[in-house]
Amino acid sequence: MYKCLVLTAISVVIVSTAQAELKEGAAVPSWEKTNPLLPVPKPPLGIEGSLEALPNPPTSKTVRLGRWLYFDTRLSADNTVACASCHHPENAFSELTPVSTGIRGQKGGRKAPSFVNQAWTIYPHFFWDGRAKSLEEQALGPIENPIEMGNTHEKMLKTLRETKTYSRYFAEAFGTPEITKDRVAKAIADYERTRMSGNSPYDQWQENRFEDGYVESDRDAAIRKGFELFNGKAECNQCHLGQNFTDSLFHNLGIGWDEKAKKFADIGRFEISKKDEDKGAFKTPTLRDVSKHAPYMHDGSVKTLKASVEHYNKGGTPNPHLSKKIKTLKLTDAEVDLLVKFMHSLDGEGYMDTVPKAFPQ
Ligand code: HEC
Ligand code: HEC
Repeated sequence: MYKCLVLTAISVVIVSTAQAELKEGAAVPSWEKTNPLLPVPKPPLGIEGSLEALPNPPTSKTVRLGRWLYFDTRLSADNTVACASCHHPENAFSELTPVSTGIRGQKGGRKAPSFVNQAWTIYPHFFWDGRAKSLEEQALGPIENPIEMGNTHEKMLKTLRETKTYSRYFAEAFGTPEITKDRVAKAIADYERTRMSGNSPYDQWQENRFEDGYVESDRDAAIRKGFELFNGKAECNQCHLGQNFTDSLFHNLGIGWDEKAKKFADIGRFEISKKDEDKGAFKTPTLRDVSKHAPYMHDGSVKTLKASVEHYNKGGTPNPHLSKKIKTLKLTDAEVDLLVKFMHSLDGEGYMDTVPKAFPQ
């Protein structure tokens, strides 16, 4: 009798759980099915750091919400432009045009930079001129920029609040359903933090070269020679350093200097710091996956990787504020090619993504 009761009790539990699951199964909307909650990713080989150890770390819930918001054109004034319109996953979250095109076809004055591995930066400088201090602060900029997404934060929030279900995912991520601009920024920034690039041929070489019984392949020999040049004769590592190959500081290479008019097309960091030496200075960009997003520099004026090495080889473009770290390098053609090859060896993986097939409605 007793046994029988227990069995009945268990089967009641099983049946009711199954029914609940069935119900939930039926209710799972397409946008959840195609953007399931995933564990927060681990950094790939070559990238040290732990997303979990960050203050206020990303969670699978903030990242899922951020992924929708990142790709959602409804954040723009006329529903045509998303973050991903200018930062394409296949171009390491940069793009293949010298400058970006925003809302109503308007062109900006700067190239859209890659943001891989930006969960960890040496200094908190975002944008080419470092005017934002965090990914959160950065993310709110383009939404209100009249030539990027052309919206106001209030209108963007109103649009998100008017969808039936977005608030559900704000509740999931933040505990309560309020949709605020700080939460939008935090979710997008957390999605960005998960876009990590590593396990490149360079990282594999770094991992393997000190192993017992290591035999250097032709590929590895080219990487080694390029690395030696990069840190030696060419002194690229004065500025492109650390795991993301950037010091996150500002330097003037003479890009955009107009010799006739004796001025810069874009004054760069000076706009923020008002220091003379920052005239025409821009933030050192990461070199990870750099082969994926020609043309180069803040104005996209340098067409190829080879041309960018040649810019350094000739000592940059002379101007009154040229960085003291830039001087003629006397690299041979073979050395230029080795540096270009070396940069190709920084093509990694781990950041790729595709546009979500459906969004909260
Ligand atoms: C119309 C094209 C466009 C859109 C849309 C756009 N961006 Fe950008 N993004 C740019 C350009 C251009 C820059 C460089 C601007 C500058 O430095 O002044 C930039 C800079 C950035 C940076 C700085 C990277 C670094 O190394 O400092 C991040 C991060 C970024 N955007 C993320 C976003 C996010 C998130 C969104 C959506 C909320 C977004 N962008 C929307 C074009 C765009
Ligand atoms: C003085 C610091 C400094 C040194 C030294 C330096 N770089 Fe740079 N690098 C920068 C800065 C700053 C930029 C962006 C400049 C701009 O847009 O005006 C840049 C841009 C680049 C770009 C374009 C990347 C992109 O996404 O647009 C490449 C490629 C590059 N550097 C490779 C190298 C190589 C190779 C060397 C060594 C030969 C080198 N750099 C030496 C600071 C430096």
